[in-house]
Amino acid sequence: MLEIDLCGIKLKNPLILASGVIGSFSSSLNDIARDAGAVVTKSVGIKGREGYRNPSVVNWRCGLLNAVGLASPPAESFAEELRSFNKTSPLIVSLYGNRQEDLSKMVEIFSMADAFELNLSCPHVKGAGMDIGKDIELSCEIVKALKSETDKPVIAKLSAMHDYVELAKSLEKAGADAIAISNTLPGMKIDIVSRKPILSNISGGVSGPAIKPIALKCVFDLYKVLKIPVIGCGGISNFEDVLEFIMAGAKAVQIGSAVYFSKRIFYSLKESLVAFCRANNCKISDLVGVAHS
Ligand SMILES: Cc1cc2nc3c(=O)[nH]c(=O)nc-3n(C[C@H](O)[C@H](O)[C@H](O)COP(=O)(O)O)c2cc1C
Repeated sequence: MLEIDLCGIKLKNPLILASGVIGSFSSSLNDIARDAGAVVTKSVGIKGREGYRNPSVVNWRCGLLNAVGLASPPAESFAEELRSFNKTSPLIVSLYGNRQEDLSKMVEIFSMADAFELNLSCPHVKGAGMDIGKDIELSCEIVKALKSETDKPVIAKLSAMHDYVELAKSLEKAGADAIAISNTLPGMKIDIVSRKPILSNISGGVSGPAIKPIALKCVFDLYKVLKIPVIGCGGISNFEDVLEFIMAGAKAVQIGSAVYFSKRIFYSLKESLVAFCRANNCKISDLVGVAHS
């Protein structure tokens, strides 16, 4: 009822853990993988990064604001950690980087990955993430470089801040197997007592319910112009949100900030979707894009 095929990979349901929110430990991924259709790791680069000083994550009224700064261990140590991933759902390793030789090494290092996600959209690290996605030509080169190193599916993760329709169409031509949209969107918060920005990096990325209508429109727009699957991400916190994204055209969805508030979210979403499909006598895959007709 909830099973889907995503770029040739069988998922028990369309609910995927979004990159980064639960950090870089296998034990946390293992908990989530029991109920999720797939899990995406924290983004990793060949060298590893310390990230920004605390405060780096702020919980506010409509979601989270974070500037973690792509903090992650070096690829080799992260791969060692991932050896204890229990494989109860497919593993998607999120990569950042733009040099062919780094991507090539990371494909080899992360041999346990079922697919790769390319982070072209992190809003708070200069020269990585969103800065790369702004350059359509460079983004296509990176996708081509990664595709030339692996037969596994490559998902390009974009931002609603990009010229996302043009970028996604070009990435499809360059060989991307799916598009995930959106990453967090740039934002900030000020502490009125100290009269200073709260995040040590001053600004960061907004996630959670605040960005849901924006991400939903991105999915709707991309479904119209792409042949490859679209994965919706942004502000999903209940099963109605999941259904909206699927009806807008998402083959699968990613859930990030909601996990911060409840580790059981995948279980409850899954159960609610089964109940919805039973009541409507349909499979989840029957609903992809129905809002367009
Ligand atoms: C604390 C935190 C860390 C994140 N780290 C990453 C990351 O390493 N790579 C990435 O592509 N996205 C990262 N994201 C973005 C999420 O994967 C997701 O795209 C975004 O939060 C929107 O989804 P949500 O509203 O369900 O949280 C991070 C988000 C948060 C809140």
